[in-house]
Amino acid sequence: MALRTPLKAAPAATDIAAATAAGRDVALVPSHLAIIMDGNGRWASHRGLPRLAGHRAGVEAVRRTLRASMESGIAWLTLYAFSSENWRRPAAEVTDLTGLLRHFLRNEVAELDSHGVRLRVIGDRSRFDRDIQVELAAAERRTAGNDRLNLVVALSYGGRAEIVAAARAAAEAARAGTLDPAALDEDAFSALLSTAGIPDPDLIIRTSGEQRLSNFLLWQSAYAELLFLDVLWPDFGATHFAEALAEYNRRERRFGARPA
Ligand code: FPP
Repeated sequence: MALRTPLKAAPAATDIAAATAAGRDVALVPSHLAIIMDGNGRWASHRGLPRLAGHRAGVEAVRRTLRASMESGIAWLTLYAFSSENWRRPAAEVTDLTGLLRHFLRNEVAELDSHGVRLRVIGDRSRFDRDIQVELAAAERRTAGNDRLNLVVALSYGGRAEIVAAARAAAEAARAGTLDPAALDEDAFSALLSTAGIPDPDLIIRTSGEQRLSNFLLWQSAYAELLFLDVLWPDFGATHFAEALAEYNRRERRFGARPA
């Protein structure tokens, strides 16, 4: 992965607190940014190119986004790279997408590692070819000690399936006598999801103009700010990224409460 731009250190929380106390305007970055990368196919068809060209250009946008996230001091970046519904696409396109994933894992994890990125995968990885499953586990192991940026890649991921799996785990624990149903609160349930230990997203961006979540982080998005951008994912760049963070700063987050 070509992260050629010199990387700035993330602003420390204490700097933000000090600046706020001094009455200065401070841009707050979302701690966790999640992105539904949509529009690769349309980008390609507008140019008379095969869909694979759109997905390849989408990988370039992933590189730009990783660089911008590190420069902004974002701690968590989740990318929806392959939904559980994407298996229903024509076999040739599924092969293209899994091929890009294989290439990414084989050729770019070393660079992610060198930049201090920790990679974690959510979703049903058992549906991928065995070699991809092995590479995913190796990439997670290799980067497990990094803490500059947590990159969560959602692969064969579906929010409803994730919630059902957590409910089943809770039911089985209750039947086995290891969980008191009365003790199952929101925190305990969250710990059964594939995102256990990952903070909820603060901002979810979807590109391509579509305005829906498409089964992405359904539980975790309860209080996320949603931003739908009229840009196709392969065109998403540093300016869109900066504008998205500026828009996040204009939102007033109340988490259901009302100011006194
Ligand atoms: C949506 O565009 C995008 C996808 C289904 C795949 C996203 C994958 C990548 C950007 C590359 C792989 C990423 C990694 C991390 C290896 P679409 O095909 O649904 O576009 P359309 O709605 O215009 O048809």
